[in-house]
Amino acid sequence: MFGEMKIFSGTSHPELARGIASHIGLPLGKVKITRFSNENIKVKIEENVREADVFVVQSSCPPVSDSLLELLIMIDALKFASAARITAVLPYFPYARSDKKDEARISITARLVADLLETAGADRVLTMTLHAPQILGFFRKPADQLLATPILTQYFKNKDLSNTVVVATDAGAAKFAGHFAKRLSVPMAIIDKRRFDDSEKAQSVALIGDVTGKDAIIYDDEIATGGSIKEASRILREFGAKTVCVGVTHPVFSGSAIETLSAAGLDELVVTDSIPVSDEKRKAMPFLRVLSTSGMFGDAVLRIHGGRSISEMMD
Ligand code: R5P
Repeated sequence: MFGEMKIFSGTSHPELARGIASHIGLPLGKVKITRFSNENIKVKIEENVREADVFVVQSSCPPVSDSLLELLIMIDALKFASAARITAVLPYFPYARSDKKDEARISITARLVADLLETAGADRVLTMTLHAPQILGFFRKPADQLLATPILTQYFKNKDLSNTVVVATDAGAAKFAGHFAKRLSVPMAIIDKRRFDDSEKAQSVALIGDVTGKDAIIYDDEIATGGSIKEASRILREFGAKTVCVGVTHPVFSGSAIETLSAAGLDELVVTDSIPVSDEKRKAMPFLRVLSTSGMFGDAVLRIHGGRSISEMMD
């Protein structure tokens, strides 16, 4: 058994970190994060962490690489302050989409991030809905992946699902969309999405399954530029879907995502708070609904601390 539990927050998503700490009934650990005039990051842990079981919350959001480096420095500072165990809590895993060598001479950067976390001194990793589940295999330390599916399921279960179909945006999303459809007890359909170059532009070319006259819920792991969702919505309307809602874990909202999503004709866009969503973005998208993950992360932290099963939470 490890010592006292402590939760620290980096600067990327203090609101979620506070939510996790308050779910557990703890104050956030004291830490001072500043910058020298040369932009180097300085982290000072401002309380005793000797023999403590420490959790550091840092999501991946802009500035992505700075947030990552800040996390590594925090872990290093905690390790040399004699924390007994350090768990890096990464609600949205950095560089998760760089998870394969699909071109010559490129880096599998998600694997590099796993190596960096270990080198810095992380003993465990806790994350949510990875772009590809095999990223867990990049770690040589224990890593737990939470899925936002139970949170999204709970939300959509409160609606009339008698005429609903869950739609995967591509074959890659089909497995988890299938789990989601099963939880909601509704059928599913799959969009055949293609990327014809490396410009992040996706095109939906075909649809497998029946959506005519139905209430469609598009399921995906993340929204970056919003292009996939806009394309999915277009093809669903073309095939006669009555309404189009979206359930997605990570609201990356990069580039002109707000404009793209606003033009996609969505009835509702449901995301989690794994990444902060500013008031400005919320106002710009009145059809947006953000669900909290703090309870799920809080429960997972309690289970890790107490040596209890995490997979049970997903059932
Ligand atoms: C792709 O494989 C992912 O599952 C998402 O569909 C993708 O990241 C969404 O990107 P965008 O919003 O830029 O189309």
